[in-house]
Amino acid sequence: MSAKILDGRVRASQILASLKEKIHSAARAPGLCAVRVGDNHASEIYVRNKIKCAQEIGIRSVLHALDKQISEPELLRLIHELNHDSQIDGILVQLPLPAHISTEKILQAISPVKDVDGFHPENIGLLSIGKPRFVPCTPKGCLDLIQASGLDLLGTHAVIIGRSNIVGKPMAQLLMNSEATVTVCHKNTRNLKNFTQQADLLVVAAGSPHLIKPDFIKPGAVILDIGINRLPDGKLIGDVDTEGVMSIARAITPVPGGVGPMTSAMLMENTWIAYTLGIQHSHRYPE
Ligand code: GUN
Repeated sequence: MSAKILDGRVRASQILASLKEKIHSAARAPGLCAVRVGDNHASEIYVRNKIKCAQEIGIRSVLHALDKQISEPELLRLIHELNHDSQIDGILVQLPLPAHISTEKILQAISPVKDVDGFHPENIGLLSIGKPRFVPCTPKGCLDLIQASGLDLLGTHAVIIGRSNIVGKPMAQLLMNSEATVTVCHKNTRNLKNFTQQADLLVVAAGSPHLIKPDFIKPGAVILDIGINRLPDGKLIGDVDTEGVMSIARAITPVPGGVGPMTSAMLMENTWIAYTLGIQHSHRYPE
């Protein structure tokens, strides 16, 4: 038996095609603004992909590529302007930010109804009480792929490796909201293997190439690999030894082409949601 490959490229293109149709018949093009600070190479690639994805489906996108020396007050001023720009429905500030800027302050400054990354405390709070508005894109994409795998989450033991605000924590909330029993492991977890061997669903966001070996896996598990690690020869590999676990797992996401493409697709979905929220809002409060 060989694990089913959960193809994120195929699923993302279905989601994008359906969004494109909706956008085509919308009153105006939804607007997405991406803000990037400094010259982090990975961030440049991620933001470029997001902008390209937006353009392909009819979302009007604007990029602010800012010098790494920009001050915190200047960045806050830009966010304030974008919050009040009626043509901009979604705002994303690519992370990480330079050390002299408080990530927390910046994320809190983004209007919670334009926060398409779902990182504002209000949106995190809504997710944690089971009333999500904007769900962070990577965990949201993972949930979609889990549904595509056919796994029924009710009562399932889900083990997450990684407790970041962007992936691990919102993933735990989403899975709890879907009735899974959730264990969150991290870099200080002792005997990691003891936990992963009990996982019906294993979500790995450790940033550690091939951390997860065949003997870590429960037979029949569904595995989501969120790791993107570049080897010295340029090759991209995940946090899971994909080839090694293929004969043990029920389903697995490849790297590349698994969770990655889903993140951009979910950002577009969140931008569409932001646009529709804005439309409702403008009906209720005509200017
Ligand atoms: N940095 C790493 N992942 C993300 C993401 O999903 N959104 C933003 N804004 N920055 C990131």
